[in-house]
Amino acid sequence: MPTTATMAARTDAPRMDDPNWWRQASVYQIYPRSFADSNGDGIGDLKGITAKVPYLKTLGIDAVWLSPFYPSALADGGYDVDDYRNVDPRLGTLEDFDGMAQALHDAGLKLIVDIVPNHSSDRHEWFQEALAAPKGSPARDRYVFRDGLGDNGELPPSDWVSVFGGPAWERVTEPDGAPGQWYMHIFAKEQPDLNWDNREVREDFLTTLRFWSDRGVDGFRIDVAHALTKNLEETLPSTADLEAQGEALYLEGRHPYWDRDEVHGIYAEWRKVFNEYTPPRTAVAEAWVHADRRARYASPEGLGQAFNFDLLQADFDAGQFRKTITKNLAEAEASGASSTWVFSNHDVVRHATRYGLPASEDSAGGIMAGQAGKQWLVAGGRQEDVDAELGLRRARAASLLMFALPGSAYLYQGEELGLQEVGCEIADADRQDPAFFRNKGVEIGRDGCRVPLPWTSVGSSFGFGPGGSHLPQPEWFGGSSVEAQEAEEDSTLSLYRRALALRSELQTAEALEWLETGRDDVVAFRRPNGWTSVTNFGAEPFKLPAGEVLVSSSPLEAGLLPGAATAWLQ
Ligand code: GLC
Ligand code: CA
Repeated sequence: MPTTATMAARTDAPRMDDPNWWRQASVYQIYPRSFADSNGDGIGDLKGITAKVPYLKTLGIDAVWLSPFYPSALADGGYDVDDYRNVDPRLGTLEDFDGMAQALHDAGLKLIVDIVPNHSSDRHEWFQEALAAPKGSPARDRYVFRDGLGDNGELPPSDWVSVFGGPAWERVTEPDGAPGQWYMHIFAKEQPDLNWDNREVREDFLTTLRFWSDRGVDGFRIDVAHALTKNLEETLPSTADLEAQGEALYLEGRHPYWDRDEVHGIYAEWRKVFNEYTPPRTAVAEAWVHADRRARYASPEGLGQAFNFDLLQADFDAGQFRKTITKNLAEAEASGASSTWVFSNHDVVRHATRYGLPASEDSAGGIMAGQAGKQWLVAGGRQEDVDAELGLRRARAASLLMFALPGSAYLYQGEELGLQEVGCEIADADRQDPAFFRNKGVEIGRDGCRVPLPWTSVGSSFGFGPGGSHLPQPEWFGGSSVEAQEAEEDSTLSLYRRALALRSELQTAEALEWLETGRDDVVAFRRPNGWTSVTNFGAEPFKLPAGEVLVSSSPLEAGLLPGAATAWLQ
């Protein structure tokens, strides 16, 4: 007799084997430490995720992407990896990982894990070896060590700054106690950059990809995929030199460490490993690159798919949305990939909050992007500056629009609850993000989207676990909990569930056709099967075209689509 589990696996089998499963998938990002805590230590863990598989299944997603769960000192929320082929003991064991993977697969859900190849942590055995080894040694060659400038090497090799603020170089003390060389770190100083010209580094990551693929991982999200290869041979240009070269520097792939053409040689090797498996393992690049260069990461000979953060960086504006969607669909088609859509992740201010802020002029890119959100963080993240109701209303409209687009939709845990970003309510003493510490006084960092999820309306850590919560949850979290929304027909959770269920039925790979709406602030498109999505970005109610309304992000008013709302028709 087959067990229930194997029967479930069999029912889903044809889809699970489909090599193209990722092309139109809805992928739910879990930030493991903040999702569900099984043992009450205040830190979310793998058993916590396993226990929530029924919730994930009911939500209607196709795959789960886990942010890093590897052993780490958490200098950067786990993106500082001590050991790429193990589980942080606070989060569980490899056995727990296997149990979680099995439970997800039994439910017909795919599993994507994060790979962090640009840098290891400073606690990685390789880095410890490099510190103990002399200048010029093979151990140092796995990282980017350079002599300092100045008479005694007391100045950093260049004036480059880390993404999190402060210098991108850190001086080491040599084994004999003398002040020594400097190593490069594009991110925190606990994240030394690896040297991808080193064959051993390359081989080790192939081993890691096979390690997780053999354990049943279906795909990989590649952290800062555009930073790995570097050109540091000549005299290092100053930041001012680099800035003076303007956009061309990026467009021509001449920046010393961002988006160099050689990086694709690495991914061509990875692709061969992915294709050793049936179905082939998939990958999506996190590459904050010029839109014209994104397709290289998404090519079938490379990673296969790349995030486009253009919609995430756009304002809630009909013109910007329409233009961005058109451009990205064309790009994805040209590269042979499918498009990716995302509004929220663990690096940006949640979209329910961003859309409640006044639109901004700033177009700063990078991992803190999302214009208005970034400015709000810089301004101190005061809740009273946010029109939370408007923000949520727009976020629901935007998400519903996204779910009707061809391509994969990436969701971030908590957006299905319409969660707002937690701003200045997190005390400085409780903050964890290196962006806050390295940039002290400039911005409050990314902790506000990483606060553990509220599962229940009351009780210890709102049902996150039987103990506390590693980042404090504000009082108002209870009102947004899963429990509070479960039975509410109009809740954001119910909207997501309904939309994702409809999407599974209706989604196809075929293109969309824009519909004329007669209004600049109303965007409408139809898929070949008649599935139509209409978004009113303005304030004036809009008369919908004929058809049956399948779902709407806000109730229709006298049959009209109100402002800041999306409806689907067929
Ligand atoms: C990526 C991650 C971010 C991390 C950085 C350095 O941008 O998404 O969270 O801080 O890489 O690893
Ligand atoms: Ca725990």
